[in-house]
Amino acid sequence: MLSYQHDYHAGNHADVLKHSVLALVVRALQRKDAPLRVLDAHAGSGVYDLRSNEARKNEEFAGGIRRLLAAAQPPAAVQDYLAAVRALNAGRQELDLYPGSPQVVRHLLRPEDHLELLELHPAALARLHRNFGRDHRVHIHDRDAFEGVPALVPPREKRGAVLVDSSYEVKEDFTTVIELLQTCHRRWPGGVYLLWYPVIRHPLAERFTAKVRATGLPKILQAELRVEAEGFDGMRGSGLCIVNPPFGLDQKLNALLPWLWATLKNDDRSGWRVEWLTPS
Ligand SMILES: C[S@@+](CC[C@H](N)C(=O)[O-])C[C@H]1O[C@@H](n2cnc3c(N)ncnc32)[C@H](O)[C@@H]1O
Repeated sequence: MLSYQHDYHAGNHADVLKHSVLALVVRALQRKDAPLRVLDAHAGSGVYDLRSNEARKNEEFAGGIRRLLAAAQPPAAVQDYLAAVRALNAGRQELDLYPGSPQVVRHLLRPEDHLELLELHPAALARLHRNFGRDHRVHIHDRDAFEGVPALVPPREKRGAVLVDSSYEVKEDFTTVIELLQTCHRRWPGGVYLLWYPVIRHPLAERFTAKVRATGLPKILQAELRVEAEGFDGMRGSGLCIVNPPFGLDQKLNALLPWLWATLKNDDRSGWRVEWLTPS
């Protein structure tokens, strides 16, 4: 039984990185008129109440989205993401609600686009149905990502993205998400894949980048944001490995990451990186 609940972490620095990059990818795919389909392999609940006991326990959002909203001049690269946050809180005085990845994507969906949400936790699934069940473009699956995503690709549109956002509660996921990527890439070589990972002290986490590179898949771009220095006990940052990034995403990330780092860092000895793991 899964015990991870994203409510404790909603809107933290890792969500900010993940969701701002996700918004950039979806927007870039929408430069063409053809419809697209986004698959969210680990959907969570979709919308988080930052007034809940869980979110307020460590107030992780205070070191994440709240800092972005207070920033004087956010760059163009975060505007779509911030618009999704603001739209969800429209008419409210405070930042009460935070959009998970399903809501960030739904905010950007056009009438012809579709979103597939896979989730296993019963409480998260119930909230997905409550939040998204009436939107005919959104399809909710009570399904294991490792079995379900390969079965859903390639989508009939043949255009779109897959977000793989394990909580790594099961540490084997550091290995199985890479296998999932390889399986899906064989079936759908043209899909855009975003693999999120935490920067933590764990042998499997420390080998993650090397193992992604070793897949030999072409066009893997990595964006990593660390807000704490080495030696920090806990998640000191996070990253995304993006396979088949839309044209120009590397330049956008090279503008976005330094700003995110300056806004979110808690320690000057932390840092950021945007790098091609395999050639573009
Ligand atoms: C980090 S949270 C997802 C957060 C969400 N993607 C977002 O950005 O708002 C990970 C979610 O994956 C779910 N999960 C864990 N293992 C899964 C699996 N094998 N298949 C589908 N969902 C899974 C957990 O219940 C949890 O809700």
